[in-house]
Amino acid sequence: MDRREFLAKSGFSAGVVGAGVLTTGAAALQAQDYSDYSKDPRPDVAEGSCTAGSLDGPIFVRPPMVAGPSGDAITILQPIERTATGYLEYAIEGGDWQRVDALQAGMKRLAEHVLKFRLPPLPPGKTIRYRTTATTIGWVKVRQFYHGEVKSGQPQTSEERSFRTLDPHADSTTFAVWNDTHENDETLARLRSLTETTKPDFLLWNGDQSNDCHFENAMAEQFICPTGAAIADRWPLAYVRGNHECRGPAAWSLAEFTGSPDDLFYYGFRSGPLAALVMDTGEDKADNSPYYGGTAAYTQMQATQSKWLQSAVQEEWFRTAPHKVLFCHIPLWFDHPRIPNNPFHGHEVCRNFWKKTLVDAGVKLVVSGHTHDYLWMPATESQPIAQLVGGAPNPKYATHITGKATKDELTIQMSNLDGKVLAEFAMGKS
Ligand SMILES: [Fe+2]
Ligand SMILES: [Fe+2]
Repeated sequence: MDRREFLAKSGFSAGVVGAGVLTTGAAALQAQDYSDYSKDPRPDVAEGSCTAGSLDGPIFVRPPMVAGPSGDAITILQPIERTATGYLEYAIEGGDWQRVDALQAGMKRLAEHVLKFRLPPLPPGKTIRYRTTATTIGWVKVRQFYHGEVKSGQPQTSEERSFRTLDPHADSTTFAVWNDTHENDETLARLRSLTETTKPDFLLWNGDQSNDCHFENAMAEQFICPTGAAIADRWPLAYVRGNHECRGPAAWSLAEFTGSPDDLFYYGFRSGPLAALVMDTGEDKADNSPYYGGTAAYTQMQATQSKWLQSAVQEEWFRTAPHKVLFCHIPLWFDHPRIPNNPFHGHEVCRNFWKKTLVDAGVKLVVSGHTHDYLWMPATESQPIAQLVGGAPNPKYATHITGKATKDELTIQMSNLDGKVLAEFAMGKS
């Protein structure tokens, strides 16, 4: 029976179907009836149409990101333009390629926006080459079977890239810090150019990468390759969640687009003489604020992080480090000379939970953002740890923070995008 004859006999015409059936034309959809294969639930959809996933076409257009940042917790995130499955290959220095699959209950992971690969522990201080191979996966209508059959496209392999793993035993390390970029294209482009000049061991993105997480199909650009360009394909990224990443219907999907250890937003790592703690300050208002619609439970998370912190600072990698620094999005203290009478004196919940452990463990610097106004706050009697607050999304007020740690000294410089130094200081061993 051809389609026209079928439509006539079954009473289908331009979006009108029988009683009890959806009647919205192209949007109408009956479930496939497995008791009667002669029925076509979507006679309006031609045989050979793709009903889900993607047909063959370019997969790799945008660059990947290497996240971790430590060598034993590397995740590589590869944005894709079509629904695909694939695998990653990596090679240590000039060694053989080794394959990593992303598996899910016996199936190779299928993704619409990003292929995400967790690598096995990698040796410190080595060059790691990597590339991804993927094929599109789509479902095509066959005869009366609307759900049809699965079709894979031709395998495609991305260009080869490389990065260097952090070395906990190195004599020195360098890093760059961005914060509160909030999808500002000019600021992102200029920060990228500054960081490319310094070629740090790692880049730390200290929260508020976005304005909110509303559409999953925008999140690869928000978190992996802003404006379509690479920011951490040649050095690893340390991801820090900001309060804006707690907002929007896709905020629950953030971990699909980031690569922090165990997909937690609090972790620690060592790079040369630097022991870094990354912690998640969550939202900036109380959990019962009507602003969150009853979805917030950050106090419980802060208590959990507090327990984790007490344990992490006992570990050897942390205890033996000459320099101990906390990176977190919302400052723990904030009394700003340019903002008199400001009611925000830092994140009180986090400060109350974490301060004693941080002080007792010898943390000597907090690097944060959030306020959109940079500030260097040396330690005082009421603020026992020095704190550096980075700048804003507006290119006029954005900051690029760089750091270098040697065994004897941690030096930090905060500049604006024109290169003017806004703060510069050195600290001795913790
Ligand atoms: Fe912000
Ligand atoms: Fe913020």
